[in-house]
Amino acid sequence: MDHELRRPSNHQDSITPASHPGHQPGANCQPLVLRISESYCLTDRPGKLQNLHMDIKEYLADRQTKVEQALESLLPPDSGPLTNHIEAMRYSLLAGGKRIRPILCLAAAEALSTSAEPLLPLACALECIHTYSLIHDDLPAMDDDDLRRGVPTSHKKFGEAAAILAGDGLLSLAFELLTSPLPDNPIRAEDRLRIVHNIAVAVGPRGMVGGQALDIEAEGPNRPTAKPLKLEELHRIHCYKTGALITAAVQTGAIAGGADQRQYAALSVYGQQIGLAFQIVDDLLDVTADSATLGRATGSDAARGKATYPALLGLEKTRSKATEAGVAAISALEIFDHHANPLRELARYIVSRKR
Ligand code: IPE
Ligand code: IPE
Ligand code: MG
Ligand code: MG
Ligand code: MG
Repeated sequence: MDHELRRPSNHQDSITPASHPGHQPGANCQPLVLRISESYCLTDRPGKLQNLHMDIKEYLADRQTKVEQALESLLPPDSGPLTNHIEAMRYSLLAGGKRIRPILCLAAAEALSTSAEPLLPLACALECIHTYSLIHDDLPAMDDDDLRRGVPTSHKKFGEAAAILAGDGLLSLAFELLTSPLPDNPIRAEDRLRIVHNIAVAVGPRGMVGGQALDIEAEGPNRPTAKPLKLEELHRIHCYKTGALITAAVQTGAIAGGADQRQYAALSVYGQQIGLAFQIVDDLLDVTADSATLGRATGSDAARGKATYPALLGLEKTRSKATEAGVAAISALEIFDHHANPLRELARYIVSRKR
């Protein structure tokens, strides 16, 4: 049996980089009837994993190990005159995040039946950018958080200046990794350029950093007299600050895997929807999870008067929004065969995760 879901007509995904030839401006704003095949729907029925012949926990553990090993080998060693700076970069990067962005990159390439292993340096570059964004996000001038990935935040451990520089170092290192020769040269030079351009757009003012700027402007103390944010504005912040990099991670795997325009467009929709779901669930966990599981403080969004889905919609509607985005993500993968099962399971994981 199929389920039907109508996306609201004001639903906007404005983060697909305009540079991609397959991008049609405004295409994502149209009402869209999604047909969801039951075998991939998001309810937690027993036997679900058997349907897809995979165990997402095992899959994640395996990929996390590969990413950890690659990160370790790609980082500069912490010795010599830059010991302190490199130690600060390594401290945050190797503190044990979930590695969702690199894993999504690898899984997108696998969905196209491309071997993921040679893409590990590109996947690690995405993790370096993400970690830089966390270091800066935690700074006193931003969200002012003391705990990250279960350990004191970078500025708590090394001081503010060193933390800012560790973030800067990781961002620059990412572009070094993205442009360094890969063993066996698996990606054409023009595709490599497309990947780098796409990531640069996704993490800049028209993406992650722009979203962070909007997030800070929307914070309670920064809008003492303004009305609460509209859902549409909050949706934009989430797509930009978190969705853009997650989308770019999927697109990186898509380009490296040789996606044609139709496949690229489908994977982009998948990335946008799980990117949105990811931040909605992040908002939810700030209210519902405990700090030990999460590895960071909880309740800090409410304390700072952050614009979040639970603050605007309450918990139940927030959960529905996350599920809706997850379902839309999985639905976008209809054109792919079983090689996309990891992406399908990753969408389920992102919606139901507890940390
Ligand atoms: C947290 O990201 C910050 C957001 C962008 C929502 P993650 O939940 O992926 O954090 P790590 O990488 O697992 O620590
Ligand atoms: C972080 O969003 C987004 C980026 C780092 C780009 P949050 O501020 O909600 O992330 P957490 O909750 O601190 O991990
Ligand atoms: Mg923040
Ligand atoms: Mg934060
Ligand atoms: Mg958060």
